[in-house]
Amino acid sequence: MTPAPAPTEGAAGLAGGSRVPRHVAIIMDGNGRWAKQRGLPRGAGHRAGAEAVRRALQAAADNGVEVLTIYAFSSENWRRSDEEISDLTALMRFYLERELKTLEKERVKLKLIGDYSAFGPELVERLNRVVERTAGNTRLTLVIALNYGSRAEITGAARTLAAKAKAGEIEPSSIGEADIAAELQTAGLPELDLMIRTSGEVRLSNFLLWQAAYAELLFLDILWPDFDERAFSDALQAFAARNRRFGGR
Ligand code: FPP
Repeated sequence: MTPAPAPTEGAAGLAGGSRVPRHVAIIMDGNGRWAKQRGLPRGAGHRAGAEAVRRALQAAADNGVEVLTIYAFSSENWRRSDEEISDLTALMRFYLERELKTLEKERVKLKLIGDYSAFGPELVERLNRVVERTAGNTRLTLVIALNYGSRAEITGAARTLAAKAKAGEIEPSSIGEADIAAELQTAGLPELDLMIRTSGEVRLSNFLLWQAAYAELLFLDILWPDFDERAFSDALQAFAARNRRFGGR
């Protein structure tokens, strides 16, 4: 098996010339608990969480990270109350409207993963518009996972490859890891280097299971709305301090 590529130096670099992860993913957890601690409704936690997304995006761009992937809505989140789902979709609509200028100014490209058609034609159209408008940007790619589930993603890749094999386009015995990776929604993005989860939970919750094979995992005790530039740069320092062996010695 080919070893996963080592991370390269990011554009800005960390203090002391340490390595910057090219691709960082975040499971943004703890909005509800943050609101509860303050006696506020859950929606207030999600709004504070959206502000934390802004800060994380800025910090990623400033530190030379190439790709930031955030878990905004999992395929399991449909189990939440109708009120909370509609709060979250309204927030995404608002965020997209307000942040389009920032994405353009900061030269951020938006990419979406997950079956976001489930959010209905109006939001889908808005999302697609932002994706098109930012397609030429190259400083940072913001990947938002919406109605995403890793097992569903891998199942989709298996179906596509099975269909190609049935049509005689490929030999089952020749299917390799790269062929599967090429059918995932993250195809073309750099390898995932660092996965962060906030709020003290220690799980991947069906997020980027294939992609996280060699990623460094960082579980932080802070709640997502409290995640700021300092927390981001601490995470990059923790990454730089780890010794990645990719299965070797
Ligand atoms: C987890 O907190 C968070 C979510 C399910 C939603 C994440 C959404 C945002 C950060 C805001 C909107 C996103 C964008 C892109 C504008 P939780 O509600 O599970 O918290 P809890 O575990 O404390 O209840």
